[in-house]
Amino acid sequence: RNPGASSARAGQGSGGGPPGRHMPSGRRAAGAIALTPRNSEIGMDLQCAVADLTPQQAVEELARLAAAMEAADRAYHQDDAPAISDADYDALKARNAAIEARFPELKRPDSPSDKVGAAPSDGFAKVRHAIPMLSLENAFDAADVADFDTRIRRFLNLGPDEPLAFTAEPKIDGLSLSLRYERGALVQAATRGDGETGENVTANARTVADIPERLDGAPELLEVRGEVYMSHADFAGLNARQTAAGARTFANPRNAAAGSLRQLDPAITAARPLRFFAYAWGALSAPLGATQWEAIRHLAALGLPTNPLMRRCEHLAEMLDQYRAIEAQRATLGYDIDGVVYKLDRLDLQARLGFRSATPRWALAHKFSAQRASTRLIDIDIQVGRTGALSPVARLL
Ligand code: IVH
Repeated sequence: RNPGASSARAGQGSGGGPPGRHMPSGRRAAGAIALTPRNSEIGMDLQCAVADLTPQQAVEELARLAAAMEAADRAYHQDDAPAISDADYDALKARNAAIEARFPELKRPDSPSDKVGAAPSDGFAKVRHAIPMLSLENAFDAADVADFDTRIRRFLNLGPDEPLAFTAEPKIDGLSLSLRYERGALVQAATRGDGETGENVTANARTVADIPERLDGAPELLEVRGEVYMSHADFAGLNARQTAAGARTFANPRNAAAGSLRQLDPAITAARPLRFFAYAWGALSAPLGATQWEAIRHLAALGLPTNPLMRRCEHLAEMLDQYRAIEAQRATLGYDIDGVVYKLDRLDLQARLGFRSATPRWALAHKFSAQRASTRLIDIDIQVGRTGALSPVARLL
């Protein structure tokens, strides 16, 4: 879910609309899983179109997909060491959603479509979120975004030309964190975990310079939600220090941020250059505003860091303009983003739309396509696996 060859996955969404309906990633719905060595290794059927599956095959594949995605979620969320690439993960999710859309009655009670992240790790005390921390539905192209706009209009009984504003902001590739302020004082910080229960990382969050210990003029109870991340420059510096110390290096800034925040010793977190952007909220004793835009402005006025690229868009064309504008700045931002998040601006309308099991109906993550880079192929090694299987491995410059 993070662009690039050595990348981690980023952002989880339900991967599709309700069963039986056109899913947002519908153009890939009937497609096979990406032909990567990784997905063939985990036993995915690369040949069979979803339309050709028998119910028995569907049951078996849904079970394999659930197991594969659970293992990938554990590696990514609990161990901060991704086992498969973002693209592979998204392909598994799209395939799972496509099979569920064709066979809604075969959807598993533990379907990956209904899941957020992974259970909290045993090393930390657990925190039950007062309001669940959800994931986002993914979109991969303009047609998916148009579907989103149409679905919301239909739900709200609005015609195609009636005004309907959205915010558009970068999707930060880090890990989400919920900060609880009581009477202006930071009292608790928790990771998302499985959305219901996260890890208590309060002592670690207190070491992050971007996270205020006190907020003046805040509502009596304020839960701020946002993303902890690491800049490219800080990531390079950290990896250089790790190499010099003979310690493990991190695959990408997202893993470095997650591995740094999820430390049992806060002194280690304190030595890591973490940053934070606030983009949402949980429990509140008083509303922050009438719109998403006002609420985020309110958080910024309280002293929380918010992303300067957030815009309010009056209609679909402006949302897509802002997507392109943010994408154009992606390489020079100095931190990883992997898409643009759209949120319905009016909070009363958000409340009417509500949530699916794992994602809000009023928000959408429009993912960027993977970033491209060139390198030179130096050689191809043939590795022999335990079972005698031969795998070609590229040696790159
Ligand atoms: S809003 C109820 N806004 O993406 C929805 N999430 O794939 C709350 N993320 O769990 C999330 N940037 O960790 C939101 N600008 C942004 C975001 C963002 C990154 C992450 C977040 C979330 C995940 C979902």
